[in-house]
Amino acid sequence: MADGSTVNPPPLGEVAPKRSGGDGGGSPRTPSSRPAPSTASRSPSPDGGGFDPYAARAQFPILSRTVNGKPLVYLDSAASAQKPRAVIDALTAAMEGSYSNVHRGLHTLANETTEAFEQARETVARFLNAETPDQIVWTKGGTEAFNLVSAGLAQSLKPGDEIVTTQMEHHANIVPWSMLRDRLGVVLKWAPVLDDGSLDMAGLAALIGPRTKLVAVTHMSNVLGTVNDVKAVADLAHAAGALVLVDGCQGAVHCSPDVQALDCDFYIFTGHKLYGPTGIGGLYGKRAALEALPPWQGGGEMMATVTEDAVTYAGIPHRFEAGTPPILEVIGLGAALEWLMAFDRAAIAAHEQALYHHVVARLSGLDWLRIIGEAPGKGAILTFTVEGAHAHDVAQILDRYGVAVRAGVHCAEPLSKRFGITSSARASFALYNTTEDADAFVDALIKAREFFV
Ligand code: ALA
Repeated sequence: MADGSTVNPPPLGEVAPKRSGGDGGGSPRTPSSRPAPSTASRSPSPDGGGFDPYAARAQFPILSRTVNGKPLVYLDSAASAQKPRAVIDALTAAMEGSYSNVHRGLHTLANETTEAFEQARETVARFLNAETPDQIVWTKGGTEAFNLVSAGLAQSLKPGDEIVTTQMEHHANIVPWSMLRDRLGVVLKWAPVLDDGSLDMAGLAALIGPRTKLVAVTHMSNVLGTVNDVKAVADLAHAAGALVLVDGCQGAVHCSPDVQALDCDFYIFTGHKLYGPTGIGGLYGKRAALEALPPWQGGGEMMATVTEDAVTYAGIPHRFEAGTPPILEVIGLGAALEWLMAFDRAAIAAHEQALYHHVVARLSGLDWLRIIGEAPGKGAILTFTVEGAHAHDVAQILDRYGVAVRAGVHCAEPLSKRFGITSSARASFALYNTTEDADAFVDALIKAREFFV
């Protein structure tokens, strides 16, 4: 929760800032209710490109709701994205029409469900341009995939072996390696982040050496929006004989990754940020990298034979998928990715970035606002602090205007320390956000500021 500066704003109808006429805010007013614009009046995507965010948005039932009497402005998609009708319908159809356990039955429903389940693996492989579907391992999310790799590498790592990561990582790409450090005496090294939020590639290169076994780096920072050159990272790591693991939890959504072109050994993704269900994610691995990992959880389906004296294991990917898998979630993720791939993903990225730049342009010159992360080519994540305000309070006041943002350290505490802050607020843009959303956010933020001056 917020520190002692916590503000408890009154209901929106009674909202009144401490002082009117703040920086650029004009006279205090409650944002008016924002009906969906008609086709004729709505603002085009600021990039002027071929993606129609209004048509996409119309497929998300939740986005037509109100929050605190205001139209919902959902800018927390980096934490979890909303779900399109295609995903909702796919889950319902599976439960209503064809559901069973997978890989175990001989009856019709078992066969149909197994086919749908494995078809989703094929969809993910196509989405990531993996060589073959069996290089996609289902996990319950991104975090479990990091832990799968960590548990596997633990079998071969020795004290003094090195793992290189960066200061901009999510805790999911830190804590599993920290556990190896504490348990095995592995050395964890941190590549620096530059003031603009870029990864210091020279600094990273200097840390990679003959003892490096793994380089673990994010494709796109969930705080800074920085998009890293993970192919260049892979080249550095491979030259030293190390593996490369890429956290694609944001990158898979916004960067159209091609895992073969990136040449990464592992690429991790999560379904709920990809407009799919929670409880499902996965690990792509190069065949040799996956086959070198020992099984990690024991149980049904991951074995080939079991006797009283010995167990032999299934091949990849099933050797990593013990027990009944998240069947419905897999089917829902498959539907999400088929839906997403029907769009021009480059046009989506251009739309999201244009929204980001539209917001930044409107906020420029406000001396009470600090933007954290301005690396060239960054994705559509705006992390910021407001002078004199705790980020939790900013988020709570924005919520009064129907605007949903995240606040805190965003599961990346070393990065907050790097920038000398204890918390920040974050607005993250998705394909369904519009210019109206962007403007509503800026208007609400300017009003929120007036509570703190
Ligand atoms: N990793 C998620 C975020 O950035 C939860 O918000």
